[in-house]
Amino acid sequence: MKRIGIITRDCGGVNAAIRAVVRTASARDVEVLGILKGYDGLINGHVVPMDRRSVSGIINLGGTILKSARSEAFLTPEGQAKALETIRANGIEGLIVIGGNGSQAGAHVLAGRYGVPVVGVPATIDNDINGVDLAIGADTSVNVALDALDKIRDTATSLERIFVVEVMGRSCGYIAMQVALAGGCEEVLLPERELGMTTVSREIEAGNAQGKVSWIIIVAEGRAKAEDVATAISLNTGLETRIAVLGHIQRGGRPTAVDRILAARLGNLAVEALIAGETDKCVSIHCGRPELVPLETAICPSCIDTSADYSLMKILS
Ligand code: F6P
Repeated sequence: MKRIGIITRDCGGVNAAIRAVVRTASARDVEVLGILKGYDGLINGHVVPMDRRSVSGIINLGGTILKSARSEAFLTPEGQAKALETIRANGIEGLIVIGGNGSQAGAHVLAGRYGVPVVGVPATIDNDINGVDLAIGADTSVNVALDALDKIRDTATSLERIFVVEVMGRSCGYIAMQVALAGGCEEVLLPERELGMTTVSREIEAGNAQGKVSWIIIVAEGRAKAEDVATAISLNTGLETRIAVLGHIQRGGRPTAVDRILAARLGNLAVEALIAGETDKCVSIHCGRPELVPLETAICPSCIDTSADYSLMKILS
């Protein structure tokens, strides 16, 4: 393999993964072309040559130096034909796709439908890639949210208030559950768990009757809006509530050591897998060991098992 391309989404640790891919490829005498703005760049032929020096000083940066986009055009056969044309015209013999579910679904199309050798690197704050213990970006996101939550707690405690904090997670409550446990929260509303507003409100009343004075309730965006949860609690209990929606701060920020190390390992693994002839697979570290997960499996909706963490949070709250 003489030349590979690299496509990215944005989240903490993606730049560290780009660095690992480019430097591993360079050590194996493989050229790398960076594809700008995700699949849109592939469609429009926006590629840049990359070498060891072009990835200097990026290991600590959030986002992606290659930029990204949600590409509607790539979902069409015409868009896919143009993407293939860019791959052929630039002599790209293999692709590394760093991103979440949508990016890996695109990788699966290129590999499965068009026979392009592709290896995926899981990177998404939602951590919802099937068969992958931890995706790049999830740890940074949890830490960014936790930092914000600790600040909110200062006010919640001082003013004895009920706060409802909304975190990201479209269909997966990974960030919500991690933050709730790490932040010592009282309750968490997840897409994966049934829990009604009446139950939460009764819990607050019972807790207050026993002397509890402040509450932090986390809600995953895929489950409900913080505003709706707060309104329901106020109506049910007659108590004042405040909300905070953390939003996109959770996808940015300086990557944690966990994400940088994961990115180094997975980026390296992806290049080695591509050179070894693997395709239509996603790299993963499972129980400390490197693994390859078929993309067909990786992109299936994945649900986290929150029961143990949820029970622990309730015991400790
Ligand atoms: O998939 C990652 C994610 O950040 C989700 O948590 C969130 O729902 C979504 O992307 C937001 O997408 P966008 O940045 O396109 O608004």
